[in-house]
Amino acid sequence: MRHLPLTLAAAVVAATLSGCSKPSTSSQADQSAGATAPAAALSDADKQKILATLPAPYNTADLSNGESKFALCSTCHTLPAGGPNMTGPNLHGVFGRKAATSPGFAYSDALKATGWTWDAAHVDTWITDPKVAAPGAKMTFAGLKDPKDRTDVIAYLMVQTGYKP
Ligand code: HEC
Repeated sequence: MRHLPLTLAAAVVAATLSGCSKPSTSSQADQSAGATAPAAALSDADKQKILATLPAPYNTADLSNGESKFALCSTCHTLPAGGPNMTGPNLHGVFGRKAATSPGFAYSDALKATGWTWDAAHVDTWITDPKVAAPGAKMTFAGLKDPKDRTDVIAYLMVQTGYKP
C-alpha cells in the first residue's frame, strides 16, 4: 500500500509527459490517472450505506458536518488507502489499529506509550484535547469541544477510512 503514492506520482508524470507530446490527449490522460488514484471518492449513496452500518450514535451522525469539521484535520492527515503521511500519519484503517503503528511515521514516545487500540471512544477522547489525552504527544490541535462535532467527524472518519464493525 505504501507504494501507491509512488505509482500515482509515476502515473502523473507519465500523463504529464504524454500530454507534452500529444497535447490533444492530455486531459484524457489526466482523467485516467485520476481514476486510478487511491483517493477515488465514494458516492453519496455509498457513504450513506456505510453510515447505516456504524454503531450508534455514529449511524445517525451528520456526515456533511463531519466532513466540514474534518477540514480542521486535513491540513495534517489524509484518509484514503495509500495516502501520504503529512504532519500527521495517514489514517486509513485506523479503527482497530494500535496507536502509533502506521508504517513510516515517526510517532512521539508519548503516543506509543499509551497502549491504546483506536476505537471511537479513544478517538473521541483524543480529539477533545490531545494534550490532556496523551501528554507529550505531538498532535498540535486545540481540540473539538462540541460532542456533536466529534461524533460527526468520527463517523466521517469511519466512513472514509474503511472501518469494519
Ligand atoms: C497540526 C497537525 C494535526 C492536526 C490539525 C490534527 N492532527 Fe491528528 N495527528 C497529528 C500528529 C503529528 C499525530 C501523531 C501524534 C504523536 O505521534 O504524538 C496525529 C495522530 C492522530 C491519530 C492517531 C494516529 C495513529 O496512527 O495512532 C488520530 C486518530 C488523529 N491524529 C486524528 C485527528 C483528527 C480526527 C483531527 C481533527 C479533528 C486531527 N487528528 C488533527 C497531527 C495533527
